[in-house]
Order: sequence, then C-alpha cells, then structure tokens
Amino acid sequence: MQMSRSPAIRVVSPDDSNTPAPQQRRHAHGSAEVVAEIGAGLLAARPYISPKYLYDGLGSKLFEAICELPEYYPTRTEAAIFARHGGDMARAIGAGTVLIDLGAGNCAKAASLFPLLQPAQYVPVDISRDFLTEAVSRLQQRFPEIEMTALGLDFSNGFALPDSVRHGRRLFFYPGSSIGNFSPEQAVAFLRGLRDNAGADGGLLIGVDLIKDSAVLDAAYDDALGVTAAFNLNMLRHLNHLAGADFDVGQWQHRAFFNEEGSRIEMHLEARTALTVRWNGGEREFARGERIHTEDSYKYTRQSFVDLLERAGFSSAQVWTDPSNWFAVIHAQVTPS
Ligand code: AVI
Repeated sequence: MQMSRSPAIRVVSPDDSNTPAPQQRRHAHGSAEVVAEIGAGLLAARPYISPKYLYDGLGSKLFEAICELPEYYPTRTEAAIFARHGGDMARAIGAGTVLIDLGAGNCAKAASLFPLLQPAQYVPVDISRDFLTEAVSRLQQRFPEIEMTALGLDFSNGFALPDSVRHGRRLFFYPGSSIGNFSPEQAVAFLRGLRDNAGADGGLLIGVDLIKDSAVLDAAYDDALGVTAAFNLNMLRHLNHLAGADFDVGQWQHRAFFNEEGSRIEMHLEARTALTVRWNGGEREFARGERIHTEDSYKYTRQSFVDLLERAGFSSAQVWTDPSNWFAVIHAQVTPS
C-alpha cells in the first residue's frame, strides 16, 4: 500500500522565526544535482528515492552480508547454476570473447568462469574505479594471458565503450539479477543499449530471478536477522550525508513484500510516527505509516524474460536453471538485422 495524499510542505518565511532557512542550516556533501534529485523524490506525492543511494560504504558491506543470508537464495542459487552448467555455457559461447562485466565489484564471479570461458579481453565495469583497479591488478597476475581493461563508470544510464575495448566478439556479463532493479521498460531500454554496443556477433550472459512462492520472496527481503532492514534504513544515513537531511533512523521501519500484480518485491521505509524531515533546501511532514519507496526487484518467468530480451534485440536464448526453478542464467545473441 502507498499513501497517496499530497505532501505537507511547510514554507519557512523570513519572519517565521529566528532560525535560518533550511538551505542555510544544513550541510550537504552531495552535488547540487544530487540534492535536487533527493529533494524531488522526497516531495513527490508518493515519495521515492533511487535504490542507487542504498550503496554507500556501509550499504555495500550490508549487501555483501545479505548475499550470505540463508533467506537470500539468489546469490548461492546462481553460483550453483554456474558450477553445474558452466561447461555448457562455455560451449555455447565459445572462447576468445571480449568479456564485459557490468557491476564487476571484486571481479570474483567472472574470474571463476575464466578457465571455462577463456576470454581474449576482460573489461570489468564498476562505479568504484579504485576498488576495480585493485581487484584487476591481482587478477592480472593469476591470468596473464587475458588482456584486462578496467572501466570506472556508472553504466546504469547508458554508455559508450571507449576504443580500448576491442571490437572482437563482445559478451556482456550481467549476473546477480541486478536487471530486476530496473522496471521492465527500463530493462528493455538498458538491454537495447547493450545490444547497440555489442556489435552484430555480440551476446549477453545474464542472471535473472524467477517468480516463486511469495513466502520465499518475502523472507529473502525481510530476513530474521534484520540485515535487509539495516541495508534499507542505512539509506537514511546516506541521505543525511548527501543532502544534509536530518532523518532519525529510529523513527523509520523497513517494509518489504511481494507485489504479485506487479511481479516485484517492493522495499519501502515507513514512518513509525508523525514527523518532519528537513534537508538542504526543503522539508516535508510525514504522517505515521507514510512510506518512502526505495527499491523494486522485479521477478520474471523464463518466458517473460525471453520475451523481454527479444524486445531488446536479443534472440536464440539458452536458459539454465536450478532444480527448483528459482533462478535462471540466460545466454542470448544479438538478433541479426
Ligand atoms: C542488487 N539487487 C539484485 C538486489 C535485489 O535482490 O534486488 C538488491 C537487494 N535489495 C534487498 N536485498 C537485496
């Protein structure tokens, strides 16, 4: 459920009190653009914040902890699919690709496939360039025969690959079901961008989370230890830092549930009490129970994702799953024009 009432915005006039206007009171560490983006989300009729703000230093560590939780099946299920079917995937893909690893992080997932995939060039892409550079220099020693070119960039809004990325057979690698954090329309647009960068003989190897019993899904996003709750609530600390906001984390609670109609897990932060939040340049009152929407995680059937790939210009999909059909790894090729 989302609250649909319009936001109560209090305008502070100069003679209202002796306190300075909000924009003078607070110190924001984010750029003016970031503060404006956060402010626009908080002032929307249905407040929302982009899930990218879940990932500050602590948020990234909490996400790593989520991946270890018994309830969070995607990471280990995907790993089991790679372990069991990696050989078949490598035969379908063939050696000598330019392997472009989106959101590579510590590069561990792709590196575990190097002996099977035998890429000619490895191109890890991640927003954190420092983290990447370190991981790649360690990997290069283990695999000196593979040319490695690390790219520190945010690929979520589309990108063009630099000339240092070879024009050989390009394979985009996008594991972890991160595609689920885009809406289906955004996912099609994103995958079309990959297709445009892949070249006529390019392809995609992608991890996709599948629809399953909603109790399994709910538990995966609301675990008993409260790690996902901490991950979600930590966004408020991040917003305090970026936008000079004054969120009191204790006044909010984590909500996550499977929306069957929308085929997605929704994550929200819900006000435990009536409260006012101020940030650099604005403020808003929240009623008790009012929510900020922080993330969607879309779930697909095998067929609905293959259809989505076709809309994006990929075909000849091969799908590998686990015995419970909880997760899929899919290889698809650019559709010949
Ligand atoms: C990164 N992404 C694939 C995770 C997911 O499952 O949608 C993020 C996450 N949110 C809560 N738990 C994990």
